Amino acid sequence: MKNRATAGRCNYGETHGTNRSYNRIYEEYSRMTLKNDSNPRTFPGLASRGLAALLAVVFAATFSGCHSTPKTQPATKTSSTAQHPVEPIKDTMTPAQRDARIAWWRQARFGMFIHWGLYAELAGTWNGKRLENHPGEWIMNRDRIPVADYKKLAATFDPTKFNADQWVAMAKASGVKYIVITAKHHDGFAMFNSAANKFNIVDATPFKRDPLKALAIACHKQGIKLGFYYSQDQDWTAPGGAALRGGHWDKAQDGSFAEYVHTKVIPQLKELLNNYQGEDAPDEIWFDTPTKDMTPELAGEIVAVLNKHPNVLWNNRLGGGYQGDFETPEQHIPAQGYPGKNWETCMTINGTWGYKSFDTDFKSTETLLQNLIDIASKGGNYLLNVGPDATGVIPKPERDRMLAIGKWLKVNGDAIYGTQPGPFTDQHGAYSTTKKDRKGNPRWVPVWDWRATAKPGTVYVSIFEWPHATFTLPAMQAKVTKAYMLADTSHKALKFSQSASGITVKLPGKAPDPIASVLVLQTGS
Ligand code: GLC
Repeated sequence: MKNRATAGRCNYGETHGTNRSYNRIYEEYSRMTLKNDSNPRTFPGLASRGLAALLAVVFAATFSGCHSTPKTQPATKTSSTAQHPVEPIKDTMTPAQRDARIAWWRQARFGMFIHWGLYAELAGTWNGKRLENHPGEWIMNRDRIPVADYKKLAATFDPTKFNADQWVAMAKASGVKYIVITAKHHDGFAMFNSAANKFNIVDATPFKRDPLKALAIACHKQGIKLGFYYSQDQDWTAPGGAALRGGHWDKAQDGSFAEYVHTKVIPQLKELLNNYQGEDAPDEIWFDTPTKDMTPELAGEIVAVLNKHPNVLWNNRLGGGYQGDFETPEQHIPAQGYPGKNWETCMTINGTWGYKSFDTDFKSTETLLQNLIDIASKGGNYLLNVGPDATGVIPKPERDRMLAIGKWLKVNGDAIYGTQPGPFTDQHGAYSTTKKDRKGNPRWVPVWDWRATAKPGTVYVSIFEWPHATFTLPAMQAKVTKAYMLADTSHKALKFSQSASGITVKLPGKAPDPIASVLVLQTGS
């Protein structure tokens, strides 16, 4: 069987610091997930809602008998529920139950993505040729590496410098509240102990240990949530697995997609969901790149497995029309966020997810920090990626930037964690009249002046451009009772005046922080 999907070109230009572009899978994938953010989906093959509802009952009875559905309050259906063969457990919950389930994630605001796998060994170079314009974890696909050759990489993968405690300590010092690591990427190699498939780090490498287990233990100890990224659809080494951007290139990849799901995906997901429960992991599963091979029925079988772990969150990239718990804009910050939805921008620090030895195009700490604040001001999370090398070391420029963000958060974390968007309606940017985004719409050009977040009774204004005199904010309804700088531990009151046209604050002469200084407005309500 050949996979048909190919890709369009995708420019990640609309966000601060993502002024590079590279080809990537996009066409089919965005059709499946991104465009339909707010549209309930209809499924091919399901003739009517009536048939869909019937199937839903049959599938639910077949696959989801074991989970305990909260029955205390009447279930509130989401718009998509009736169309799915298996109802996700969250759709059986009341809004309050759903909120409680995802509360930790909403509070977190900042997470660390880790892309780590066999591709780190190639570090972006195959047969002496550098992989340009594509992320390192795509090297097998872009260079059409034969399955047997790629599999050989396992024999020399020995990340002796890997230290889970150090990684998690670094993450913690960076202020992230959760980590998401690639358990299996598109190359099909499992970075965990898998009885279901021998192409895994314990059975196929000299390392012989399960780094996910070590990370689960370290995260549990250090109070960091842990999620597993799992490429459920693309798999370039398993027969039947999908391959975007041109389809299969090696006969060894051909086979039945359904069989691949049944013999590899579902068994491995069960392993990921069951084998780390002693460490209370995982907290989420991060799916990726669904294709049309992932039918509602196959996805429904996966949802039945997920439903047995009602607290495990999962993203919107499963496929088969499932919406998941949160939206996943990639390499950009949506101009208005996704009002009323949970969302998480994932982004690279340089231009690659998986390690590339020659990609030194690192975004500045200023850019990354401003992105985090911008995202929080729109009610989203920032999942910032690091790509450890084949020895198990996270590149120093990435560590340095993560830690610098952590240093800022130590002083100013109140302005980020557990916040909501601020009360002002200002847009902090405008749509370009000349530049287009990847969908061909006018590109959002942000203005980096300031951003606001809020908690009940408090507004936090992160100021990027220090005004050196008085600072004026637009009007807001609540009455301000006190203004002070968050970095000032004495919370010395600043002079301010509030009128129907705005709020004017007399700021200290010097900005407490060279990148972002947080003004706190107490509203006393
Ligand atoms: C894309 C890529 C992948 C990367 C992911 C992160 O979908 O296929 O390599 O893991 O984005 O969001």
